[in-house]
Amino acid sequence: MGWDSGAGVKFSQDSQAAVFFVFMKDQQFHPGIRAGLPGFIFGERDILKHALSNITFEKFASIQFSVFSIGMLLFREKVPADWVPKVLANLPAVLVDHAHLERKAATTALNLEKYRDLYGRVEEINAIAIEELQHFQLVLDLLKKRGIPFGQPFPSPWITGLMRSVRNGARHQAIDHLICCALIEGRSCEKFQILAEVLKPVDAELATFYASLVESEGNHYATYWLMARNIDEPEADRRLDFYLDLDAQLMRLPNPHPILH
Ligand SMILES: [Fe+2]
Ligand SMILES: [Fe+2]
Repeated sequence: MGWDSGAGVKFSQDSQAAVFFVFMKDQQFHPGIRAGLPGFIFGERDILKHALSNITFEKFASIQFSVFSIGMLLFREKVPADWVPKVLANLPAVLVDHAHLERKAATTALNLEKYRDLYGRVEEINAIAIEELQHFQLVLDLLKKRGIPFGQPFPSPWITGLMRSVRNGARHQAIDHLICCALIEGRSCEKFQILAEVLKPVDAELATFYASLVESEGNHYATYWLMARNIDEPEADRRLDFYLDLDAQLMRLPNPHPILH
Protein backbone atom coordinates (compact mmCIF):
# COMPACT_ATOMS: atom_id res chain seq x y z
CA MET A 1 0.00 0.00 0.00
CA GLY A 2 2.94 2.29 0.50
CA TRP A 3 2.52 4.48 3.54
CA ASP A 4 5.08 7.14 4.29
CA SER A 5 5.19 8.43 7.76
CA GLY A 6 6.65 11.56 9.11
CA ALA A 7 5.99 13.90 11.99
CA GLY A 8 2.95 11.92 13.05
CA VAL A 9 1.36 12.18 9.66
CA LYS A 10 1.00 9.44 7.12
CA PHE A 11 0.47 9.95 3.46
CA SER A 12 -0.76 7.29 1.16
CA GLN A 13 1.14 6.78 -2.05
CA ASP A 14 -1.73 4.85 -3.49
CA SER A 15 -4.18 6.95 -5.45
CA GLN A 16 -6.99 4.60 -4.45
CA ALA A 17 -6.34 5.14 -0.78
CA ALA A 18 -7.76 7.68 1.52
CA VAL A 19 -5.82 10.02 3.67
CA PHE A 20 -8.03 11.38 6.32
CA PHE A 21 -7.32 13.39 9.39
CA VAL A 22 -9.42 13.78 12.44
CA PHE A 23 -8.34 16.55 14.73
CA MET A 24 -8.99 15.22 18.18
CA LYS A 25 -10.52 17.64 20.66
CA ASP A 26 -8.31 16.37 23.45
CA GLN A 27 -5.19 17.08 21.37
CA GLN A 28 -3.95 13.59 21.98
CA PHE A 29 -2.39 11.05 19.71
CA HIS A 30 -4.23 7.76 19.49
CA PRO A 31 -1.74 5.30 18.06
CA GLY A 32 -3.97 2.32 18.88
CA ILE A 33 -6.66 3.77 16.75
CA ARG A 34 -4.27 4.43 13.94
CA ALA A 35 -3.35 0.78 14.01
CA GLY A 36 -6.97 -0.27 14.20
CA LEU A 37 -8.20 2.00 11.48
CA PRO A 38 -5.78 2.57 8.67
CA GLY A 39 -7.19 5.35 6.60
CA PHE A 40 -8.21 7.34 9.58
CA ILE A 41 -5.17 9.11 10.81
CA PHE A 42 -5.33 10.80 14.15
CA GLY A 43 -3.03 13.53 15.07
CA GLU A 44 -2.44 16.44 17.24
CA ARG A 45 -3.27 19.72 15.59
CA ASP A 46 0.18 21.16 16.27
CA ILE A 47 1.95 18.16 14.86
CA LEU A 48 -0.15 18.38 11.72
CA LYS A 49 0.45 22.09 11.56
CA HIS A 50 4.15 21.54 11.81
CA ALA A 51 4.13 18.76 9.25
CA LEU A 52 2.00 20.59 6.78
CA SER A 53 3.39 24.06 7.47
CA ASN A 54 1.14 26.88 6.32
CA ILE A 55 -1.52 24.55 5.00
CA THR A 56 -4.88 25.40 6.53
CA PHE A 57 -7.46 22.75 7.35
CA GLU A 58 -9.64 23.96 4.46
CA LYS A 59 -6.78 23.87 2.02
CA PHE A 60 -5.72 20.47 3.29
CA ALA A 61 -9.27 19.18 2.93
CA SER A 62 -9.18 20.05 -0.75
CA ILE A 63 -5.82 18.36 -1.24
CA GLN A 64 -7.09 15.33 0.58
CA PHE A 65 -10.02 15.14 -1.79
CA SER A 66 -7.79 14.96 -4.81
CA VAL A 67 -5.82 12.17 -3.15
CA PHE A 68 -8.69 9.86 -2.40
CA SER A 69 -10.82 8.71 -5.25
CA ILE A 70 -14.08 8.55 -3.34
CA GLY A 71 -13.29 5.94 -0.80
CA MET A 72 -11.65 5.66 2.54
CA LEU A 73 -9.45 2.91 3.80
CA LEU A 74 -11.55 2.47 6.91
CA PHE A 75 -14.43 1.35 4.76
CA ARG A 76 -14.36 -1.70 2.55
CA GLU A 77 -16.74 -0.32 -0.03
CA LYS A 78 -16.80 3.01 -1.81
CA VAL A 79 -19.73 5.35 -1.86
CA PRO A 80 -21.76 4.12 -4.88
CA ALA A 81 -21.13 6.02 -8.12
CA ASP A 82 -24.80 6.96 -8.45
CA TRP A 83 -24.94 8.62 -5.03
CA VAL A 84 -23.55 12.07 -6.00
CA PRO A 85 -25.79 12.54 -9.09
CA LYS A 86 -28.80 11.36 -7.09
CA VAL A 87 -28.06 13.87 -4.31
CA LEU A 88 -27.34 16.76 -6.70
CA ALA A 89 -30.61 16.14 -8.54
CA ASN A 90 -32.64 16.15 -5.30
CA LEU A 91 -31.09 18.75 -2.99
CA PRO A 92 -34.34 19.83 -1.24
CA ALA A 93 -35.22 16.22 -0.35
CA VAL A 94 -31.65 15.55 0.74
CA LEU A 95 -31.74 18.57 3.07
CA VAL A 96 -34.94 17.26 4.69
CA ASP A 97 -33.27 13.87 5.07
CA HIS A 98 -30.21 15.59 6.53
CA ALA A 99 -32.36 17.40 9.10
CA HIS A 100 -33.74 14.03 10.25
CA LEU A 101 -30.24 12.56 10.29
CA GLU A 102 -29.08 15.25 12.73
CA ARG A 103 -32.23 14.86 14.81
CA LYS A 104 -31.64 11.10 15.02
CA ALA A 105 -27.97 11.64 15.83
CA ALA A 106 -29.04 13.75 18.83
CA THR A 107 -31.59 11.21 20.09
CA THR A 108 -29.18 8.32 19.52
CA ALA A 109 -26.54 10.08 21.60
CA LEU A 110 -29.06 10.42 24.44
CA ASN A 111 -29.94 6.73 24.06
CA LEU A 112 -26.30 5.75 24.51
CA GLU A 113 -26.42 7.29 27.98
CA LYS A 114 -28.55 4.37 29.19
CA TYR A 115 -25.61 1.96 29.07
CA ARG A 116 -23.95 1.25 32.39
CA ASP A 117 -20.54 1.12 30.67
CA LEU A 118 -21.04 4.71 29.53
CA TYR A 119 -22.29 6.29 32.76
CA GLY A 120 -18.85 7.80 33.29
CA ARG A 121 -18.96 9.37 29.83
CA VAL A 122 -22.37 10.97 30.15
CA GLU A 123 -21.11 14.55 29.86
CA GLU A 124 -19.09 13.82 26.73
CA ILE A 125 -22.11 12.15 25.17
CA ASN A 126 -24.34 15.04 26.21
CA ALA A 127 -21.94 17.40 24.45
CA ILE A 128 -22.37 15.37 21.26
CA ALA A 129 -26.16 15.37 21.63
CA ILE A 130 -26.11 19.16 22.02
CA GLU A 131 -23.85 19.54 18.98
CA GLU A 132 -26.15 17.32 16.91
CA LEU A 133 -29.16 19.40 18.00
CA GLN A 134 -27.28 22.50 16.87
CA HIS A 135 -26.63 20.81 13.51
CA PHE A 136 -30.33 19.94 13.33
CA GLN A 137 -31.19 23.62 13.90
CA LEU A 138 -28.69 24.72 11.24
CA VAL A 139 -30.34 22.43 8.69
CA LEU A 140 -33.80 23.63 9.76
CA ASP A 141 -32.60 27.22 9.23
CA LEU A 142 -31.42 26.29 5.75
CA LEU A 143 -34.77 24.67 4.99
CA LYS A 144 -36.62 27.78 6.13
CA LYS A 145 -34.33 30.09 4.14
CA ARG A 146 -34.92 28.03 1.02
CA GLY A 147 -38.66 27.62 1.53
CA ILE A 148 -38.39 23.84 1.84
CA PRO A 149 -40.98 22.36 4.21
CA PHE A 150 -39.76 19.95 6.88
CA GLY A 151 -41.29 16.61 5.95
CA GLN A 152 -41.24 12.84 6.23
CA PRO A 153 -37.90 11.06 6.32
CA PHE A 154 -37.08 8.22 3.93
CA PRO A 155 -36.08 5.00 5.64
CA SER A 156 -32.38 4.14 5.34
CA PRO A 157 -31.77 0.44 4.57
CA TRP A 158 -28.10 1.02 5.42
CA ILE A 159 -28.75 2.39 8.95
CA THR A 160 -31.52 -0.17 9.59
CA GLY A 161 -29.20 -2.96 8.42
CA LEU A 162 -26.42 -1.86 10.74
CA MET A 163 -28.71 -1.45 13.75
CA ARG A 164 -30.38 -4.82 13.18
CA SER A 165 -27.08 -6.50 14.06
CA VAL A 166 -26.75 -4.87 17.46
CA ARG A 167 -26.63 -7.76 19.93
CA ASN A 168 -28.46 -8.02 23.21
CA GLY A 169 -26.68 -8.09 26.54
CA ALA A 170 -25.65 -4.83 28.13
CA ARG A 171 -21.96 -4.80 27.27
CA HIS A 172 -22.29 -6.31 23.79
CA GLN A 173 -25.14 -3.97 23.03
CA ALA A 174 -23.18 -0.92 24.13
CA ILE A 175 -20.15 -1.88 22.01
CA ASP A 176 -22.24 -2.67 18.92
CA HIS A 177 -24.34 0.45 19.30
CA LEU A 178 -21.23 2.63 19.63
CA ILE A 179 -19.64 1.04 16.56
CA CYS A 180 -22.82 1.58 14.52
CA CYS A 181 -22.84 5.21 15.62
CA ALA A 182 -19.15 5.55 14.79
CA LEU A 183 -19.72 4.16 11.28
CA ILE A 184 -22.70 6.44 10.68
CA GLU A 185 -20.64 9.43 11.81
CA GLY A 186 -17.69 8.25 9.72
CA ARG A 187 -19.81 7.85 6.60
CA SER A 188 -21.38 11.27 7.23
CA CYS A 189 -17.94 12.77 7.57
CA GLU A 190 -16.84 11.11 4.32
CA LYS A 191 -19.97 12.11 2.41
CA PHE A 192 -19.93 15.70 3.70
CA GLN A 193 -16.39 16.02 2.35
CA ILE A 194 -17.58 14.79 -1.01
CA LEU A 195 -20.55 17.18 -0.97
CA ALA A 196 -18.36 20.11 0.05
CA GLU A 197 -16.39 19.51 -3.13
CA VAL A 198 -19.04 18.62 -5.69
CA LEU A 199 -21.43 21.35 -4.53
CA LYS A 200 -18.89 24.15 -5.01
CA PRO A 201 -19.86 24.95 -8.62
CA VAL A 202 -23.55 24.19 -8.04
CA ASP A 203 -24.45 25.66 -4.66
CA ALA A 204 -21.64 27.50 -2.90
CA GLU A 205 -23.65 28.08 0.30
CA LEU A 206 -24.34 24.37 0.73
CA ALA A 207 -20.75 23.47 -0.16
CA THR A 208 -19.51 25.72 2.66
CA PHE A 209 -22.12 24.32 5.01
CA TYR A 210 -21.07 20.72 4.40
CA ALA A 211 -17.40 21.61 4.73
CA SER A 212 -18.18 23.20 8.11
CA LEU A 213 -19.63 19.92 9.45
CA VAL A 214 -16.78 17.61 8.45
CA GLU A 215 -14.58 18.10 11.49
CA SER A 216 -17.44 17.76 13.96
CA GLU A 217 -18.75 14.50 12.47
CA GLY A 218 -15.18 13.19 12.32
CA ASN A 219 -14.80 13.93 16.01
CA HIS A 220 -18.05 12.11 16.76
CA TYR A 221 -16.81 9.13 14.80
CA ALA A 222 -13.58 9.12 16.76
CA THR A 223 -15.25 9.63 20.15
CA TYR A 224 -17.72 6.77 19.68
CA TRP A 225 -15.05 4.42 18.39
CA LEU A 226 -12.73 5.27 21.28
CA MET A 227 -15.59 4.67 23.72
CA ALA A 228 -16.29 1.23 22.23
CA ARG A 229 -12.61 0.35 22.48
CA ASN A 230 -12.47 1.64 26.00
CA ILE A 231 -15.15 -0.84 27.09
CA ASP A 232 -13.38 -3.90 25.65
CA GLU A 233 -10.61 -3.44 23.12
CA PRO A 234 -10.38 -6.94 21.55
CA GLU A 235 -14.15 -7.25 21.41
CA ALA A 236 -14.50 -3.80 19.82
CA ASP A 237 -11.85 -4.65 17.20
CA ARG A 238 -13.59 -7.93 16.41
CA ARG A 239 -16.97 -6.25 16.06
CA LEU A 240 -15.53 -3.44 13.94
CA ASP A 241 -14.28 -6.10 11.53
CA PHE A 242 -17.77 -7.60 11.42
CA TYR A 243 -19.43 -4.22 10.94
CA LEU A 244 -17.05 -3.10 8.19
CA ASP A 245 -18.05 -6.20 6.20
CA LEU A 246 -21.70 -5.53 6.91
CA ASP A 247 -21.32 -1.88 5.89
CA ALA A 248 -19.73 -3.00 2.59
CA GLN A 249 -22.59 -5.44 1.90
CA LEU A 250 -25.23 -2.83 2.71
CA MET A 251 -23.52 -0.17 0.60
CA ARG A 252 -23.93 -2.42 -2.44
CA LEU A 253 -27.70 -2.63 -2.02
CA PRO A 254 -29.66 -0.47 -4.45
CA ASN A 255 -31.04 2.62 -2.75
CA PRO A 256 -33.30 4.69 -5.01
CA HIS A 257 -34.17 7.36 -2.43
CA PRO A 258 -32.42 10.75 -2.43
CA ILE A 259 -30.90 10.33 1.03
CA LEU A 260 -27.52 10.84 2.61
CA HIS A 261 -27.24 7.25 3.85
FE1 LIG B 1 -24.18 16.19 13.12
FE1 LIG C 1 -22.37 13.66 14.35
